Amino acid sequence: MPATAIDIGTYAVKVITADPGKQPNIHRVVEVINPFGTSLPTDDLQIEQIGELVNNLIFDNKIPHNDVRLSLPESMVSSKIISIPPLTDAELASAIGWQAEQHIPIQKEDLSLQYRILFRPEKGDTQTPMRVLLIGTRKSIVEKYVNMFISMGIEPTILETHVLSILRSLDITPEEPPTMVLNMGATNMDVAVVFKGEIQFVFTHTGVGALLTKTLQQILGLDLQQAEQYKRSYGLDPNQFEGRVRNALLPTVNTLVSEIQKAQRYFVSQFPQHKLSRIVVTGGSSQLPGLVEHISETLGIEILFAAPFATATGEVPTENQQTLSVCLGLLMREV
Ligand SMILES: Nc1ncnc2c1ncn2[C@@H]1O[C@H](COP(=O)(O)OP(=O)(O)OP(=O)(O)O)[C@@H](O)[C@H]1O
Ligand SMILES: [Mg+2]
Repeated sequence: MPATAIDIGTYAVKVITADPGKQPNIHRVVEVINPFGTSLPTDDLQIEQIGELVNNLIFDNKIPHNDVRLSLPESMVSSKIISIPPLTDAELASAIGWQAEQHIPIQKEDLSLQYRILFRPEKGDTQTPMRVLLIGTRKSIVEKYVNMFISMGIEPTILETHVLSILRSLDITPEEPPTMVLNMGATNMDVAVVFKGEIQFVFTHTGVGALLTKTLQQILGLDLQQAEQYKRSYGLDPNQFEGRVRNALLPTVNTLVSEIQKAQRYFVSQFPQHKLSRIVVTGGSSQLPGLVEHISETLGIEILFAAPFATATGEVPTENQQTLSVCLGLLMREV
């Protein structure tokens, strides 16, 4: 039975239908511009606008909707790894609510909390702290999002966040060296570090593809479409257009670079014996000409593109694959 993955991005809505599993067999890929520029509708007007956009997309294209899978931006969750004195499961269960209040900036009434023990010292060792991952979700936002689908007659089967979907699509094994994963979209760049088969931390920086386009519009006096086109054709190439596109883009690009450096430093502070030697990039903005080379040269680190369709068969698109990692991850989940 085919499944449908939907990723509502601030630039584009992506929909893929496939036979799900580790090697998804792709039936159909649809991508449309999101003219509303928001991916997490909160007020009634936004819910109506985005709802109608998605509704038309699904019903006009006769997209199967028995098994609809959704991935949401990281901003609806707040996660934190805490170090606390070793506790038994029962002790932890009763202490966790209080810990969440200290570390998760979501009001108690709106908080849905999950937690996972990442590290527990050997029995009898009371000196070494245990490490626990707290994940808090904003109930009110998730409810609104799900209700938007329910009112179309669709009951989503999977709801998770972008980083989880993308990591599944990458299939990084516990034996692999520490890896930073960057999802560069239109609004957000998610930064996640994976090591020993665990997500060590995730944070999100705001101001990516749409900001690059806007900067070009302002500095070079272009309209939106022209700016988008110049960005995609010339990117950071110093030989195009007398380097004027490159120069206009560089300050924003360098902000991204310093965010990556911040994550590198944080990793080193957590794991002084290890080196963060690898970055994997995905998302539409990772395709900016010259971007990967620029980051790699500035940081002296190896950068690879994700290959979201590596194991897929069927109607695999030949272009713009990096915008589809979230959908592929959703389709690779086995329920
Ligand atoms: N070849 C390219 N060069 C530069 N930028 C590109 C290229 N292709 C796509 N983009 C940019 O990528 C962005 C769209 O990517 P993506 O679909 O991953 O974003 P999104 O999911 O809609 O955004 P977000 O997740 O931040 O809400 C747009 O800003 C677009 O301009
Ligand atoms: Mg996105």
